[in-house]
Amino acid sequence: MRYLIESMTIHDIPRVIEIEKLAYPTSQWPQSAYRRELQENQWAYYFVLRDLTYEKQITSDKNGLDNKSHKLFSFLSPKNAAGNPKSDSIVGYAGLWLTVDESHITTIATHPEWQGKGLGELMLIHLIDTSLNIGGFRMTLEVRVSNFVAQNLYRKYGFTAVSTRPRYYSDNNEDAYIMWTTDIRTQNYREMVENHRTKLINRLIQEG
Ligand SMILES: CC(C)(COP(=O)(O)OP(=O)(O)OC[C@H]1O[C@@H](n2cnc3c(N)ncnc32)[C@H](O)[C@@H]1OP(=O)(O)O)[C@@H](O)C(=O)NCCC(=O)NCCS
Repeated sequence: MRYLIESMTIHDIPRVIEIEKLAYPTSQWPQSAYRRELQENQWAYYFVLRDLTYEKQITSDKNGLDNKSHKLFSFLSPKNAAGNPKSDSIVGYAGLWLTVDESHITTIATHPEWQGKGLGELMLIHLIDTSLNIGGFRMTLEVRVSNFVAQNLYRKYGFTAVSTRPRYYSDNNEDAYIMWTTDIRTQNYREMVENHRTKLINRLIQEG
């Protein structure tokens, strides 16, 4: 298994911020915002996506260790201290809030070097699965009107733009589309997700 999605911990925040600077060059959350989300917001669910092969490669590069030593090193090392191999293996992250029975996607980003490989989709499917598990039956998000890549991803998973929030983004006063899904519990929706999931898994297997 090459990719792994895990709950985000405070030890992951420095690497998440690193990716955020690359993925959202004009506006980032401060570390304190992530810390608050993880430690104080009981309705927040944040995840990191790891590329385990990347972890292996940089561990042996940095430490000259073989794979066996790497596993031991990884197991013994403090979990995800900034700059260590475990936290460097993070290549994406995503999060949502649950508000009664609605899930609000707050962020999703893939490290630019890993974009276009199906990983944003993998994380979005994970958010959908999470929503179903925690009782969020409709999903919503804001997206820049110029962000066609993200909009394509969301539309693929049944999100449609229902309104606009004018000047939502303070860095350049850009408008946001507010996108919603229909009820994600319906058979139609679940079948659509399962079809995409199967195709994506086959693609990820084929691509190693
Ligand atoms: C949006 C983002 C998370 C997508 O992640 P990704 O890992 O690159 O996307 P994937 O490879 O999983 O692609 C999933 C879908 O996104 C859309 N997409 C991805 N790259 C695209 C591109 N270059 N052009 C158009 N659509 C694209 C497609 O619908 C694609 O599905 P397909 O493979 O069936 O065509 C990523 O581009 C990113 O981190 N962007 C910067 C941060 C951001 O804008 N986040 C969203 C804020 S609302």
